[in-house]
Amino acid sequence: MSDRLRLGIAGLGTVGIGVVKIVQRHADLLEARCGKRIEITAVSARDRTKNRSADLSDYAWETDPVALARRDDVDVFVEVMGGSDGPAKAATEAALAAGKDVVTANKALLAVHGQALAETAEATGRVIRFEAAVAGGIPVIKALTEGLAGNAIRRVMGVMNGTCNYILTRMESAGLPYETVFEEARQLGYLEADPNLDVGGIDAGHKLSLLAAIAFGTRVSFDAVELEGIGRVSIDDIRHAADMGYRIKLLGVAQMTGRGLEQRMSPCLVPADSPLGQLQGGTNMVVLEGDSVGQIVLRGPGAGEGPTASAVMGDVMDIARGLRIPMFGQPAKTLAEPTAAKVSAPAAHYLRMTLLDKPGALAKVAAVLGEAGVSIDRMRQYGHASRTEAPVLIVTHKTTRDAIDVALSKFGATGVVIGESVALRIEEV
Ligand code: NAP
Ligand code: HSE
Repeated sequence: MSDRLRLGIAGLGTVGIGVVKIVQRHADLLEARCGKRIEITAVSARDRTKNRSADLSDYAWETDPVALARRDDVDVFVEVMGGSDGPAKAATEAALAAGKDVVTANKALLAVHGQALAETAEATGRVIRFEAAVAGGIPVIKALTEGLAGNAIRRVMGVMNGTCNYILTRMESAGLPYETVFEEARQLGYLEADPNLDVGGIDAGHKLSLLAAIAFGTRVSFDAVELEGIGRVSIDDIRHAADMGYRIKLLGVAQMTGRGLEQRMSPCLVPADSPLGQLQGGTNMVVLEGDSVGQIVLRGPGAGEGPTASAVMGDVMDIARGLRIPMFGQPAKTLAEPTAAKVSAPAAHYLRMTLLDKPGALAKVAAVLGEAGVSIDRMRQYGHASRTEAPVLIVTHKTTRDAIDVALSKFGATGVVIGESVALRIEEV
């Protein structure tokens, strides 16, 4: 057996350069821990002339990541370019075909092609590791596939997009509207090249679908995730939620029910004093619930050079140590095709509406809610400068989203509800 493990790194952006720096800085420490010298032999990116914050002069350069993946002097192909198709997919497939193990941070690739890639890896006797793809520096894939392997998982939940959490917490702390903070996030470089991946909930949905596959032994089914982004969360909702003891988070929840696999990524209210409610800025949090262990909360940086490279290197070290766990914790062919179920578990809901400020308006709304089977728990009315309109907040008792939607559809006919009302689920955490 060789006393070294040779990496080929495709992608020299935030994550790729972070990996280079760890290998250069900790060569002796890594060797002491895994018994092999971790070396980088070749790298690839689009622009060779770009100024990068690490010395790459010792490494061979490949313009084509597929050529890099096939090199004889590469044992592990590290894919940190991104994109669900194109070069990332082609190079990953080429690496497996050439007998290389793969480490990737690419959740978009795996959410779409994870099953096929896992089957290819197993057919070729290789492994694909992807700790960095979910919740950045938090070792959640390891927790699920190893530490919690003896548990039936009941529920996976979490805040898995740091950019959205930054936007929501910044809106609250600075009292700024969504559009202003979105622009700030863009200036700070927090947003993906396609911002809708972040604010549309897609990136977090990718991550949730990967965790659900491991947790419930099912094929990755990103298409079945009920997705709603944060674009419609207003500063009013954030303020009113805070007034009632809640914070709004882009929260992912996956659970297996008698009707099938429920996966949802949407803005939800959580108690302000809960661990999820306390989560600030770009930090991620994943909550795992197992039948034996109970609840585990993992919290940490979800993005950035150091944290993401840390997760990539954890995977590299496992490969160096000879750990070869199937990608989703069990052989790919044994993963079940999940039945997608619409989220049906009843929950309390937050409703915000604007009413005409006149006698009987509240009674009409209460009647519509009552007819839909929605029971009111708490209610608050605010003053409005116009004196003709009244913002009203309602927290319901537990009810289904279907019942809420029935009520919302009838608000217009009351003649007292102005504009569109907002309904957000209050998650029990
Ligand atoms: P990035 O900073 O945009 O870097 C992407 C790198 O890939 C660049 O070096 C780019 O080359 C190279 N590249 C793109 N297309 C290529 C092609 N066709 N051929 C060769 N090289 C190509 O991206 P990143 O933030 O490091 O993210 C990389 C991956 O990690 C993505 O899948 C991302 O979702 C995932 N991830 C990132 C983070 C994070 O905090 N950034 C966290 C978790 C996961 P040039 O430099 O020459 O343009
Ligand atoms: N855009 C992602 C986030 C990067 O904000 O969390 C890490 O996956």
